[in-house]
Amino acid sequence: MDWGTASEAAQTELIVDIGGQIGDTIEGLGKFLKNTRMMVYLVMMAIRIVEMKRILKDTGTLYLHCDTHAGHYLKIILDAIFGRSQKRFRNEIIWCYSGGGVPKKDFARKHDTIFRYSKGDNIVFNVDTVRTSYSEGSQNRMKTSATKAFRGEKIYDNYSMNQLGKHPDDWLEIPKKIRKAEKSDYNTQKPFELYQRFIKASSKVGDFVLDPFAGCGTTVIAAEQLGRQWLGIDLTYLTIGATKLQIEKLCPNIRGQIKIIGTPENEDQALQLAQSDPQGFEDWCIAHVLKFKRTAKTPGDGGIDGTLKFPIGSVKGKQAYGKGVAQIKGGNHTLGHIRDFRTAMQNENADFGIFVTTTTPTSGIEQEIARAGIYEHPSYILDIPVLQYYQIQDYFQNKLPKIPHAERKIL
Ligand SMILES: C[S@@+](CC[C@H](N)C(=O)[O-])C[C@H]1O[C@@H](n2cnc3c(N)ncnc32)[C@H](O)[C@@H]1O
Repeated sequence: MDWGTASEAAQTELIVDIGGQIGDTIEGLGKFLKNTRMMVYLVMMAIRIVEMKRILKDTGTLYLHCDTHAGHYLKIILDAIFGRSQKRFRNEIIWCYSGGGVPKKDFARKHDTIFRYSKGDNIVFNVDTVRTSYSEGSQNRMKTSATKAFRGEKIYDNYSMNQLGKHPDDWLEIPKKIRKAEKSDYNTQKPFELYQRFIKASSKVGDFVLDPFAGCGTTVIAAEQLGRQWLGIDLTYLTIGATKLQIEKLCPNIRGQIKIIGTPENEDQALQLAQSDPQGFEDWCIAHVLKFKRTAKTPGDGGIDGTLKFPIGSVKGKQAYGKGVAQIKGGNHTLGHIRDFRTAMQNENADFGIFVTTTTPTSGIEQEIARAGIYEHPSYILDIPVLQYYQIQDYFQNKLPKIPHAERKIL
């Protein structure tokens, strides 16, 4: 995102209203980075980290997971907010992994960095829950120390082996590949083990975990599974939809209890979203209403906004799939748009299509819908019109579009 009024406002707030160390730091970084995208990102993060520190308990810990592009700037910002002189910086944790992809003229990047900061001195650190196993080398070293101790030679306390395992290091190796059953198809999904370790180490059962950049919900799911309370925040309707499905899949005991705040809750709010943020409206319809996979916009895609792949039984011993497509039109449209959608459906070899709108169909559109006929799902009793004209108002009266629900999943 480019520099704009939001970045300007955040920068002014940091320098003028909040001031102090973070104000000076942002002013200095601004002189160096000017109004670049990096600076847009840093002021966005800084203003949020100020709030994260404000709501963090004195016993709590902040873990900030970042990539190599911005990590060094973020560490300066964290120092400025948490207090460099109070030594609130606790660890720079290195998560190592292996995998394909090597740059021609650089060392392969095979680690991520997680900065760990605290607000107070007396923080929760449940070391016994995150101990690791001793390496062969340290086991041998300890045997030597024990022999020396037996001979009355001086040894150090930390050479004695702890029955519960080794004190955890500030680096760890966890495979990056996500297990199939846990996969959300969100491309930056992180392994559960990673965040489980941080949650176990820095909180107790019943404590509160917040991920203000929740993505596909790895943190909040790990928190749920470990008996913590949690809250996730994310900017996009797509990720929130994906997170909800992921939580429902992996934590079935709380299905139906997840509360989403900030998505349209009634017809007026949905219509308002369609007007003020057409992209957000499309994302919300695709991810929350239809639970389709969002398609990337490409020239010549015929305006298809989302697709659904659903199982239709097996053909020659192999699982076969049907295909549904959707187009979202928050504004006005004509019969011509519906016909174009029909053509796009045919080009996509779709079995059925849903045209989501905010208006009522004209008689010409109704005729076009009737002409399209019915899709006969081989193992599903419900009649599915090949072309569905779905008014978003129906969603709030619990009238859902006709969709083979077996695998309504965001891919
Ligand atoms: C890298 S992902 C986070 C992944 C997540 N913590 C995890 O490990 O699974 C970053 C997320 O931050 C969200 N995001 C970006 N800017 C945001 C903002 N200003 N407020 C809230 N969420 C934001 C994006 O939509 C994206 O889902």
